[in-house]
Amino acid sequence: MSKLKLPGLIDIHTHMREPGAIHKEDWDSGTSAALAGGFTTIFAMPNTNPAVMDNKTLNLSLKEAENKARCDFAQFIGAGSDNAEKISLLSPKTAGLKMYLDSTYGELQLGDMAQWISHFQYWPKELPIAVHAEGPTMAASILLAHLYDRPIHICHVSRKDEILVIKTAKERGLPVTCEVTPHHLFLTAEDINHLGPGRSEVRPVLASPTDRDALWENMDVIDCFATDHAPHTLQEKDGANPPPGFPGLETALPLLLTAVHEGRLSIDDLINKLHTNPRKIFNLAEQPETFIEIDPDTTWEIRADETFTRCGWTPFEGMQVRGRVFRVVLRNHEVFKDGRISAKPGTGRNLRTQST
Ligand code: DOR
Ligand code: ZN
Ligand code: ZN
Repeated sequence: MSKLKLPGLIDIHTHMREPGAIHKEDWDSGTSAALAGGFTTIFAMPNTNPAVMDNKTLNLSLKEAENKARCDFAQFIGAGSDNAEKISLLSPKTAGLKMYLDSTYGELQLGDMAQWISHFQYWPKELPIAVHAEGPTMAASILLAHLYDRPIHICHVSRKDEILVIKTAKERGLPVTCEVTPHHLFLTAEDINHLGPGRSEVRPVLASPTDRDALWENMDVIDCFATDHAPHTLQEKDGANPPPGFPGLETALPLLLTAVHEGRLSIDDLINKLHTNPRKIFNLAEQPETFIEIDPDTTWEIRADETFTRCGWTPFEGMQVRGRVFRVVLRNHEVFKDGRISAKPGTGRNLRTQST
């Protein structure tokens, strides 16, 4: 069966859970899941415990990552109520700034618009601000990016109204980019029944089939696919207060390759949204010695017990998909082949430190 070579995939939105919740995931298990899913670079979100919000907590996370990561990485820093000026000086060490403008998992939500504005003023224009902002909040964040003349990246767009506002903003030349998750492309509120109430908890929530269809119909508006890999254990998901979030690193590529096989997505679109655009938007160097080989035709069934993530479940359990990662090469070294990880912890590089 003929293999297909693709550039190493870049996931600009993951939650590694270290420090603070390594029973869900850590830099080792999370980056193993990344390699198994074809991702050679991941960006980690700052809603850890402690949250990454200053030099000390940034260094804490980066130290763990440098010791344990098996793929390349960069770490987002979180916007707080009074850290705008200080963290702007740390920008070269970060993937970018993350602002939580709507409620989700963790403590990082910014309430007051005055607090948002200071970050739009201080954060360097060469790096985007990534926002968790839904509906009207998303529209407000795009307006502020326009007023302060700086790029903004909208995380996990999930609804028709949102993608249409982004489309119009782009048509008017506003500096906005966006990402969509595989779960919002492949699942809707109609799946809540079979997933169950706890396991289907995610932010943004699973939307309507009309919303999902609007995402597919506006594929040209979507800059990136990003997993929002947000592992929580099965026990937590099935417990009394289920936290929102789905694992996604090991299912994103097969789901999207299945869509390619069905003629719903082109392979060029897949490469642009999982490699080229993330690299350009977040200013990463090209890595010609980093690539993956896939079996585009292999049909297989998604099973959580075959994954590397520590969370132990997937919302796509039992789904038949077509296309699988066969081999991953990171900077000229084979790090994954045929279901086995050979990269050692610490193989991964901090891409920001390297470039500054
Ligand atoms: O479902 C989600 N889970 N959405 C988020 O924005 C945060 C994430 C998490 O960290 O668990
Ligand atoms: Zn989010
Ligand atoms: Zn997230």
